[in-house]
Amino acid sequence: MTDNLLSLFNNRQKLSKAQLDQFVLVQWQQGKHFDRLPSNALPDYKKFDAFPWEKIDCMLTKIVRKQEDGLSFGFDMFPPKSAAKGDMHVHPLSSRLITVLEGYGTAIVQTCKGKMAKKEVGPGDVILFPHATPHCFWGAEDAPMVVEVMLGPYVPFEHPLHTVCPKKAKVIAQDYPDLFRPCHVDELEQVANRVVALQAQGLVELSEHQVMEWGDEFIDALGGYETTERVCAIER
Ligand SMILES: [Fe+2]
Repeated sequence: MTDNLLSLFNNRQKLSKAQLDQFVLVQWQQGKHFDRLPSNALPDYKKFDAFPWEKIDCMLTKIVRKQEDGLSFGFDMFPPKSAAKGDMHVHPLSSRLITVLEGYGTAIVQTCKGKMAKKEVGPGDVILFPHATPHCFWGAEDAPMVVEVMLGPYVPFEHPLHTVCPKKAKVIAQDYPDLFRPCHVDELEQVANRVVALQAQGLVELSEHQVMEWGDEFIDALGGYETTERVCAIER
């Protein structure tokens, strides 16, 4: 079921985090960090309007399905280039498979050879990379770009290793390599506690998260912010 991108995509209901991680790693190691899917395979994010967008860093995001093994599915909306430009960053603990659904933008990802690959992307374009891979995205000049994102695993935004700038990540990875490995969902809290303890001792330095001044118009158009916690369908 994970022989190729399309079969993985079409069998997402039965996909495990381990399968996603393995698929992403193998594809990325083969230089297929950019790929394509046919337009009829793309999900319709508007079916998930009941899930509110949240502002995180330079984008809006919503998680719509979270499995017990941590594999999660969501959507991100990136701002137009003129409003905010994404910074290069890494997610130390989780892999990504991202598919552009609507709009156009720019994707930059580090390849398995250590170089940065840049591509102008649009609907059907896929960008994938294992944990701790530097990357960034932004939307085109005039309109936002909406993508589907598969996360292996979902890491809460509040987690100290949700997102780290590549320079600081490199230092931490050298000093504490065990913090930079694929993470099981039940290890997330333990890792967070360890990082917080290291931060308190001044041994690990992380950047503050910055939320961009962007996205309020979309949230307002959809009825404003929700004050309740994000709703996720937990599936086995
Ligand atoms: Fe990212």
